Amino acid sequence: MASELYQKGKTLEMRKTFIGQSCRLFFSDDPVKILRARGQYLYDENGTEYLDCISNVQHVGHCHPAVTQAASSQMALLNTNTRFLHDNIVTYAARLSATLPDKISVFYFVNSGSEANDLALRLARQYTQNEDIVVLEHAYHGHLTSLIDISPYKFKKLGGQKEWVHVAPLPDTYRGIYKEDHPNPSQAYADSVKSLIDQVQSKGRKVAAFFAESLPSVGGQIILPRGYCTKVAEYVRAAGGLYVADEVQTGFGRVGSHFWAFQLEGEDFCPDIVTMGKPMGNGHPLACVATTQDVAAAFTDNGVEYFNTFGGNPVSCAVGLAVLDVIEKEDLRGNATRVGGHLMELLIQLQKKHPIIGEVRGVGLFLGIEMVKDRGERSPATQEAAHLVKKMKDERIFVSTDGPWENVIKFKPPMCFSMEDAERVARTIDTILTELSMEENQQAFKQ
Ligand SMILES: Cc1ncc(COP(=O)(O)O)c(C=O)c1O
Repeated sequence: MASELYQKGKTLEMRKTFIGQSCRLFFSDDPVKILRARGQYLYDENGTEYLDCISNVQHVGHCHPAVTQAASSQMALLNTNTRFLHDNIVTYAARLSATLPDKISVFYFVNSGSEANDLALRLARQYTQNEDIVVLEHAYHGHLTSLIDISPYKFKKLGGQKEWVHVAPLPDTYRGIYKEDHPNPSQAYADSVKSLIDQVQSKGRKVAAFFAESLPSVGGQIILPRGYCTKVAEYVRAAGGLYVADEVQTGFGRVGSHFWAFQLEGEDFCPDIVTMGKPMGNGHPLACVATTQDVAAAFTDNGVEYFNTFGGNPVSCAVGLAVLDVIEKEDLRGNATRVGGHLMELLIQLQKKHPIIGEVRGVGLFLGIEMVKDRGERSPATQEAAHLVKKMKDERIFVSTDGPWENVIKFKPPMCFSMEDAERVARTIDTILTELSMEENQQAFKQ
């Protein structure tokens, strides 16, 4: 059993003393101290096991032996920066290239999703020589200053919107401006981007890029209506801009049927830049920007070297290669399709039983339950969602909320999540929601 240096209370006290308080803890009222993990399970200081439905970073499972072995062997041998020639970086780039459309064939390795998106911003601006960026409502693209500027989820609470940033409606067919009963939501939402671009141009400004997550997660586990990305890419390119697909959360097979979530749009759709991070190193800081030869050439032509001290080092690339091997060997994409599909079916059954579940949506192991107080009004059941998260924790299952009203329960577990895990999650939600509705009925009766 892993041992603690300090008792939990002392760790918490030291955390409060030494760590910036804007770095929040999960379950801040009663934080959890985790000492070890394996697969989809986390263990606290008492050895209590928790089922992890939220760690999308530990993609192939916590502490996967093949990944830890690859890291430690390479670490014992060599770790340098990318100015020395090494096989790992080129092998890894070639492996990634095979997962992407032919057009996307040049890679820059970085250390985090934020670094990837910041570099994507630079690439797009260098290539287009334009400045402005179009993003989706509620989007989050990272914590660097440049990315706070293009993340409405953050800048709304901070300094506000920069004049070069333009926010398009979130194509959310449950809660957005065009709903599931609209005859052509993808066209309508894409047209809203087109009119935004027209407005930008009418002010004499020019668009460098449209940034969007292929499945907006912070926005509430949104599935973009099919056809939207293709049309938006057409409008953005016609305006001289590029399409940047942020796959930091959604890449590496999470959607099951495809390696990249943007591929759900169909064979013919290809972004100009793809950014990736979180699952890529299974917890090791490894991220990347992939783009076309033309965009990369424009970046080279500016004559300024791009050097990233840690990005693409032999250890990181060994880890990345091991992650790709595990995804293939353990058929984790197939698992995401099967287990995610089963969980989705179970949740849809629960939706029939519990009116508080307004919508269940998702693909593969990227799922969300939108909780509402009233199905007609679709008013967000924020408190009830928080209650569900807390009760699930009592049952030793970690889930969390997302969406602008924090009323969407999200599931992005390690990809080794099993059928039994899915059944346990659905059973537990059923019990908690049944109890909740009984309590609400009793309260209504008393009033
Ligand atoms: C969609 C998306 N893009 C970018 C980032 C930034 O990644 P990182 O935290 O690795 O810098 C995040 C992080 O949550 C994200 O969810």
